[in-house]
Amino acid sequence: MQGRLTVTRPFMVGSVILALSGMAGCTALFTGPVEEGETFDQPLPGLTRAQQLAFARGDEAFEKAFSVKEGLGPIFNQPSCEGCHAGDGRGHPRTNLIRFGRNAGGVFDRLDTEGGPQLQERAIPGVAPETLPAHANAISVRSGPPAFGLGLVEAIPDAVILAGTDPNDANGDGISGRPNMVVPPDWVGVPQTPSVGRFGRKAGVAFLFQQVANAYHQDMGITSDVLPNENPHPVNGTLGDDAPDPEVSRATIDDVLFYLRTLAPPKRGPVTPEVKRGEQLFQQIGCASCHTPSMKTGTHPTIAALSQVDVPLYSDLLLHDMGPDLADNFVEGEAGGTEWRTAPLWGLRLVGDHLGGTHFYLHDGRTSDVREVIQSHGGEAAQARTRFFGLSKQDQDALVMFLLSL
Ligand code: HEC
Ligand code: HEC
Repeated sequence: MQGRLTVTRPFMVGSVILALSGMAGCTALFTGPVEEGETFDQPLPGLTRAQQLAFARGDEAFEKAFSVKEGLGPIFNQPSCEGCHAGDGRGHPRTNLIRFGRNAGGVFDRLDTEGGPQLQERAIPGVAPETLPAHANAISVRSGPPAFGLGLVEAIPDAVILAGTDPNDANGDGISGRPNMVVPPDWVGVPQTPSVGRFGRKAGVAFLFQQVANAYHQDMGITSDVLPNENPHPVNGTLGDDAPDPEVSRATIDDVLFYLRTLAPPKRGPVTPEVKRGEQLFQQIGCASCHTPSMKTGTHPTIAALSQVDVPLYSDLLLHDMGPDLADNFVEGEAGGTEWRTAPLWGLRLVGDHLGGTHFYLHDGRTSDVREVIQSHGGEAAQARTRFFGLSKQDQDALVMFLLSL
């Protein structure tokens, strides 16, 4: 039960989180003036004045840390979005959240009546935090993925993503990407038909709106016009907190949604000859078979900046079996216990700037060493891994330089 061990790590240290979120809003780690495209908090170009104002409101709401008086909890993980998406980049492993369930004999149980599938390991005064049920054996430790570029990700048509699937590995390259087809809950207000999941580490969510409303409710214990009832406590049932429900309005959810939709990905770093060579090697050894360099958006009904643009995310947004080192045994929609959505690689060069210079790669932020990341790639990625470690030291370095130019 290796997964159980990871849970005992000290992942909640209040003062560190405060220090981190204090750093996150500004650019304290930069010494000179910050150039456009060098941080994660800038809007896409071409927003109207009204859209710029919505962006600014959403930015503020994303940073806001809720107090107990304002409705935090009763059970929660962190008091702000920003706390787990530092500087709009990824989360520090100290703020990792845990999903759990029981996976036995091929049957997966989310343990809904025992507080599953998400562990809220913090609580307001007078309320007991959740603890892991003893028989939970599928424990998925996850760090917050970067928050930029998600409107572009959402605007890629299902058909474009589905064109990259190869469920039976017809082309014989050992790689068989498949989509996580998910039916959204009725409160999302879209047709209850299967859509291509694309958000979350296992692509379990198809719509950004769902991700935002759910994050308020599950991660912070903040009720909204969308989800007006507090998350039930597994032992004590429904408990209140100090604030009347709903604790935020639909307008706030919409502002944060707009903010995330229009938060631009950072600019690509300089493409030196070494970086160019690294990119060719990345293609040649099969990394790009999953880390698709770019996909194109469709026509967006309201935000011109999201229409018909190339999205250089370096992901196919599909699920892949990544082998035992990365497995969590946790089932989410159609994603099994060894499957993960290909992690987008854009912004890798800047991710560390918001985390004290450390990258914290992979779904749980377990390592900051790119070679260890590649070493952990098994399953469908095993061939690419073997080819990487068969390269000369110089070529390996060029490939790593390429990754850190994104
Ligand atoms: C306790 C930490 C935590 C808090 C607080 C939190 N998030 Fe997250 N967020 C995560 C994790 C972990 C994931 C990945 C979840 C998964 O794999 O399903 C995530 C995923 C996301 C994603 C999908 C990103 C992607 O690339 O797929 C969005 C969007 C998001 N969060 C927005 C928010 C918003 C908005 C808030 C505040 C209302 C928020 N988050 C609060 C930890 C957090
Ligand atoms: C079979 C598909 C596949 C192939 C081939 C593949 N990857 Fe990945 N890669 C993934 C998935 C899925 C993840 C996310 C795994 C996780 O978080 O547990 C990932 C994660 C990563 C990350 C971490 C990103 C982050 O932000 O945490 C890097 C870096 C990376 N891959 C580089 C590479 C390189 C370099 C190669 C070629 C040697 C490669 N990958 C080949 C699917 C693939």
